[in-house]
Amino acid sequence: MPEPIIEISNANIYQGDNLVLQDVNLTVNKGEFVYLVGKTGTGKSSLLKTLYGELTLTEGQAMVAGFEIRNIDWRKVPYLRRNLGVVFQDFQLLTDRNVNDNLKFVLKATGWTDNKLMDEKILDVLDKVGLKAKGFKMPFELSGGEQQRIDIARALLNSPKLILADEPTGNLDPETSDEIMNLLFHICRDFNTAIVMATHDYIVVQKFPARMIRTERGKVIDNATITME
Ligand SMILES: Nc1ncnc2c1ncn2[C@@H]1O[C@H](COP(=O)(O)OP(=O)(O)OP(=O)(O)O)[C@@H](O)[C@H]1O
Ligand SMILES: [Mg+2]
Repeated sequence: MPEPIIEISNANIYQGDNLVLQDVNLTVNKGEFVYLVGKTGTGKSSLLKTLYGELTLTEGQAMVAGFEIRNIDWRKVPYLRRNLGVVFQDFQLLTDRNVNDNLKFVLKATGWTDNKLMDEKILDVLDKVGLKAKGFKMPFELSGGEQQRIDIARALLNSPKLILADEPTGNLDPETSDEIMNLLFHICRDFNTAIVMATHDYIVVQKFPARMIRTERGKVIDNATITME
């Protein structure tokens, strides 16, 4: 039996007073990879932001990684975030410290205290993204693709069962973008982590096929065909 990690029913998603997505119904199961496609401004980021508690859901129901998120108490949002990983297109590492210290900063912010355990965890996630040797590098010493891998490592720190990625290949050349896609598929397959990835990138979607949902004219359409504009 597939087990849902995201279950949304009859949700309306607003930006301010503006209804961006109406009557959203969507289930994503554990370990599934799902693309979120759709033209610019149609609500992909708004949907992801709702799922990670950046936008509050006020109409409809949604369960995300075990949390009921409708009208979620802001004090509970950090606990929700600990159960999912978020990857952005343009995430900036703190420029004044190396990769290890960037990751340690995030661990401390999410309640970790034991230095030995933190060091082990950091090595573990760097290993998972193929950058075990780069912990002592400063951000400016990393390529764009390496920085994106570090962002994925950051998302893995709390061993999430769900990763939400907003255009994670948006700033990368095709070759580097393939590497990131291979990494995300590997994480999905080997750790049974569900991934919802918003993208514009038609080439990526064709090359790495998976289930697609689309935002279009205020709706979320499931099993969209592969045509993208
Ligand atoms: N912070 C905000 N305040 C008010 N309106 C916003 C805000 N962010 C987005 N919107 C509006 O909400 C709608 C959906 O935007 P959203 O960013 O979710 O689209 P998107 O599909 O992610 O677009 P893109 O492909 O360009 O990233 C747009 O009309 C946008 O102008
Ligand atoms: Mg967006």
